[in-house]
Amino acid sequence: MLATLHARAKDSMSADPILGDRMAEDLVARIDYDFGRFRMHRGWTTGVAIRARQLDTWAAEFLARERAVSVLHLGCGLDSRIFRLDPPSTVRWYDVDYPDVIAVRRRLYPDRENHRMIGTSVTDARWLEQIPSDRPVLVVAEGLLMYLSEEGVRSLVRGIVGRFPSGQLMFDAVNGLAVRLQRFNHPVRAAGATFTWALDDPRDLERWDPRIRLVGGLTALDLPCVERLPAGYRIAIRAMRLIPALARAGRLLRYEFSQPREGRRAPGGDRT
Ligand SMILES: C[S@@+](CC[C@H](N)C(=O)[O-])C[C@H]1O[C@@H](n2cnc3c(N)ncnc32)[C@H](O)[C@@H]1O
Repeated sequence: MLATLHARAKDSMSADPILGDRMAEDLVARIDYDFGRFRMHRGWTTGVAIRARQLDTWAAEFLARERAVSVLHLGCGLDSRIFRLDPPSTVRWYDVDYPDVIAVRRRLYPDRENHRMIGTSVTDARWLEQIPSDRPVLVVAEGLLMYLSEEGVRSLVRGIVGRFPSGQLMFDAVNGLAVRLQRFNHPVRAAGATFTWALDDPRDLERWDPRIRLVGGLTALDLPCVERLPAGYRIAIRAMRLIPALARAGRLLRYEFSQPREGRRAPGGDRT
């Protein structure tokens, strides 16, 4: 989370920012940490900003349509998404991450109306019970699910789909090739993190639960603003497009779900 925070701060400090997250810049100045260890070069910084911007765009679209909703920002780290999107007070926003991360967040961020932070592992099913289930939900998970087990992701998704009347899930995912090649991903390695969940076919989630529909997806190579990556990256992207598994190594995905007319089923139901 410190690597991605640093990336957003560097983007904000650049002459022509993509995300323009001034809060990230402010936080990095306030945290006593050797951010240099991530060796965050411009390609990576730009990539993080592009990904965050696309998720912000999708989230803003949802919030423009649905005003009385709950937002679950999972694996929020030190991301200031709530301040970037600045939702109206009709939106209940929950930032969720491990307890030690939430403890740091509480020290760094000001309080806000209708904003709660929950310190828990997202794979501990009990935390969801704290969220009122009466409203549609928007779930944003950036840089999180690839670090969970497939079973962890599946139960999380089923728990959410079983609890709320309707909603959208948006997240980034990596495929099996990206998991196999992760030793070349320096910031992930420097953070001591490991990719464990690979999603090769985005339609897998529809098979996990028939209430889920895939409604959007972009590969990392097709995100708006990739033309702003440094020249070396743009050349690499051209080459990666020729190899389907490389072209789909990283994606941003968007799903919708709603309950069937007869009412809500128990999380997960009996379908696999
Ligand atoms: C790569 S960071 C991304 C943070 C933030 N979304 C961002 O883009 O800056 C991954 C985050 O997921 C959190 N995380 C990983 N596994 C988790 C789990 N099982 N439950 C809750 N949070 C988790 C980490 O603590 C970390 O903050």
